[in-house]
Amino acid sequence: MSDIVRFSVSVEEELLEQFDDYCRRQQTATRSEAVRQLIREKLTAEAWQSESHDVAGTLTLVYDHHRPQLQERMMELQHDHTELIVSTLHAHLDHDLCLEVIVLRGPAGKLQNIASRLRGLKGIYRGELVMASAQGD
Ligand code: NI
Repeated sequence: MSDIVRFSVSVEEELLEQFDDYCRRQQTATRSEAVRQLIREKLTAEAWQSESHDVAGTLTLVYDHHRPQLQERMMELQHDHTELIVSTLHAHLDHDLCLEVIVLRGPAGKLQNIASRLRGLKGIYRGELVMASAQGD
């Protein structure tokens, strides 16, 4: 973690009121914390735009494990890309449904590609990629 520096920002009164309302709704500890999170969010989103930038994220998948060959295909794809897959968490939701959270790390373009391929497999009910961070966070 680098040193904390202070800077002042000029902003319209009305915009600041809206921002304070936002902080209350989000239950952010302080205004500074909210600003830091928003800056990181923007920088992370930008890093994910550039294909070669090293980033990290999670892919959450919900699927029916009875679907023929789905688990084998998911497993194959992950084993073929061990350089991008950091870890996998599996939870059995009920008799049919499984939830899997895959932690990804690597170049943004490759992560988006592997996430699309996994999410696009036949039998996946829901798939959501969360762009968690950029390098150095
Ligand atoms: Ni399961």
